[in-house]
This record gives sequence, structure tokens and C-alpha cells, in this order.
Amino acid sequence: GKTVRVALLGCGTVGTEVARLLTEHADELAARAGAPVELAGIAVRRPDKHPELPQHLLTNDAAALVESDVDVVVELIGGIDPVREWLLTALRKGKSVVTANKALLAEYSAELFEAADSSGADLYFEAAVAGAIPLLRPLRESLAGDRITKVMGIVNGTTNFILSAMDSTGAGYAETLDEASRLGYAEADPTADVDGYDAASKAAILASLAFHTRVTASDVHREGISNVSASDIAAAKALGRTVKLLSICERVEGEDGTESVSARVHPVMIPRSHPLANVGGAFNAVFVEADAAGSLMFYGQGAGGAPTASAVLGDLVAVARNRVVGGRGPRESAHAQLPVRPMGQT
Ligand code: NDP
Ligand code: HSE
Repeated sequence: GKTVRVALLGCGTVGTEVARLLTEHADELAARAGAPVELAGIAVRRPDKHPELPQHLLTNDAAALVESDVDVVVELIGGIDPVREWLLTALRKGKSVVTANKALLAEYSAELFEAADSSGADLYFEAAVAGAIPLLRPLRESLAGDRITKVMGIVNGTTNFILSAMDSTGAGYAETLDEASRLGYAEADPTADVDGYDAASKAAILASLAFHTRVTASDVHREGISNVSASDIAAAKALGRTVKLLSICERVEGEDGTESVSARVHPVMIPRSHPLANVGGAFNAVFVEADAAGSLMFYGQGAGGAPTASAVLGDLVAVARNRVVGGRGPRESAHAQLPVRPMGQT
């Protein structure tokens, strides 16, 4: 079949691993997609900082790369502007988009899905929530016939890494945050992690998919871990508990029987016997409750280059295969438009 040409926007922690896997697994990817999947260009801010990459593929002009003869845009830059315009352009021109950008999706998924619908393009973002863990596909596809009532868990690797280290070794907050950045877990601006913005974006994405409604990051009640002190952790320990930053999204029924959605992120003292208490390092774990399925647990590496690249590559195979066979992946699932509870009312 026809070669699927891929533009890679961003080649940092995650992009580097995506480029590596695309090259090393080229034969497997081609077999699964039904056509060769070829890296057609790589946009970075500073091409001169990347002597390790094939020089003929490098550019600092992401907009021009998006407009060039490519079929798929894989976006691993992050942040809202200027990425939003580039992805809208790609989708309107019928190019499939794969992204790990939770900050963008949590604010602008409606606009992005509308652009995708205008041309029939695919928009996939499994890597945006919980790194390597297959979580969004199960919510959108495997559980599409069930009724999800709750999604709760640890979806930020950096804060979990920090809290776990403070709990187990008594390490300090600042030094552990530096290590999380060095290991490639933290966002470019780590306040997004420690102040709970990253977890709130992920909660918005999870709630939107689970409850078929539109939740944005600003709808999510948010409290980070910057006020969690060593003495808080010690106090929790004395009570047989540990502190975790949890994202909790649930369907709530009012007294008059009307339903709404609540989403919040805050530190919680949980008993050490709880399964979430044993989730260490940059691992994530998410519980999903659904009427017919009952309780499900998803667990794995939630941050880092290679784990995140695994999810990106899975999406890339899916969108490449869709292009080869002429199909299309799931579209926005916001049908019911359940109201979102104002922040603070939990
Ligand atoms: P990095 O900061 O490591 O990499 C960002 C890349 O984007 C760099 O290559 C940088 O270029 C490039 N870039 C920045 N601005 C521009 C621009 N204007 N034009 C072209 N290229 C640009 O980020 P990560 O790899 O950690 O994260 C990428 C995305 O993945 C983000 O959305 C993040 O939230 C998400 N994500 C990250 C995870 C992780 O564990 N790290 C996990 C899940 C999702 P240069 O190299 O020249 O500086
Ligand atoms: N900074 C994010 C985290 C990356 O620590 O979870 C994964 O989305």
C-alpha cells in the first residue's frame, strides 16, 4: 500500500523515544498498519542541539512541516500556543493527529474534534493520560456499552514520585522534584505537576470520555502537593496511612434525581492497605467503576519517554491503519451533556 508519511513535532523526552521506536520497529509497524510508516520530518526549536537525529529531516518550522506532504502529525511539543493552530490546520486538511498534549485537549478538545469531523481525520491521544497504560481506549471503546459511574486514581507520575520518596526515604520535596525532572517525568514547567494542573487536565479528559460530556480543566477542583510537608507525611504514617494525589471523577445524583459530573484533584491520606498506597515511583493506577463491569483497575508506568512513546506508537499504528483501509477511529463522545458541578461542591 501507499506509504504513510509522519511529521514529528517535538523531539524531547517523548519524541526521541518515538523516533527511535519508529526506526527500530519499522518492519513491525508496517506489518500492523498495512503500509510502511515513514518519518518525513522532525520539528524542534533548536535543530543545532540535535546532532543525533537525521539532519535532513530536521526543521525549526513546524507550521511548514504540517503543511507539507504528510499524512499524520504526531505532536510532542506540549502547551497550548502555538501548537493548537498547527493541529487545527492539520485536522482541517484531513491529516490524522496523534498527541500526548493533555493541557491542550483539556481546554480545546471540542474545537479539535470539530476540525477532525470537518475533514474526517483521526484524533488520537492515548498517551495524554497515564503514560503507557491503555486507559482511554477502554473507556471509549471497551466500556462503550456500559455505564461508568466513577474513575479515580493516581494520574500524575511526578507528584507520585515525590510523595513516594518523601514517604519511604524521608527525602526532601525540592531534591525529589529535581530528580523527577532529570528523569523526564516532570512537565517543562513542573509547577503544572506539583500544583495539580496536569492531573486536573487529565481528570477533565477522563471525565469527558467516561461520562460523554464536556469537562474542561477549569471545571476541575484542584489542589496540588506543594503544601504537603514532611511532617504531614510523618503524621499520615503514624496513622497507618500515606498521602497520594488523587484525581476523582464521578457521576453524582442530586436529590431531585438529576445527574451531574464532579471532578476534583487533591491530596488524600489513604490507608496503607489500600491498593493505591502501594503505587510507587512514577507509576499510575486508575480504578474504573461501571454498572455491569463492576470494578476495574489499570496500572503501569504513567510518565517517562519510553512508556509514553509506547502509547503514541499504538495510536500511530491505529491512525495509519485507518488511512490504509479507509476507516476512522472514535469521535467525540459528548452526547448527553451532563452538567458539571461547579468547583468546590463535591
Ligand atoms: P520536552 O520538553 O522534553 O520536549 C519538547 C520538544 O518540543 C523539544 O524537542 C523542543 O525542541 C520542541 N519544541 C518546543 N517548542 C517548539 C516549537 N515552537 N517548534 C518546534 N519544536 C518545539 O517535552 P516532553 O517530551 O516531556 O513532552 C512532550 C509532550 O508530551 C507534552 O505535551 C507533555 O505534556 C506530554 N507528555 C509527557 C510525558 C513525559 O513523561 N515526559 C508523559 C505524557 C505526556 P528542542 O529539543 O529544540 O528544545
Ligand atoms: N508530567 C506528567 C506526569 C507526565 O508526571 O505524570 C505524564 O503525563
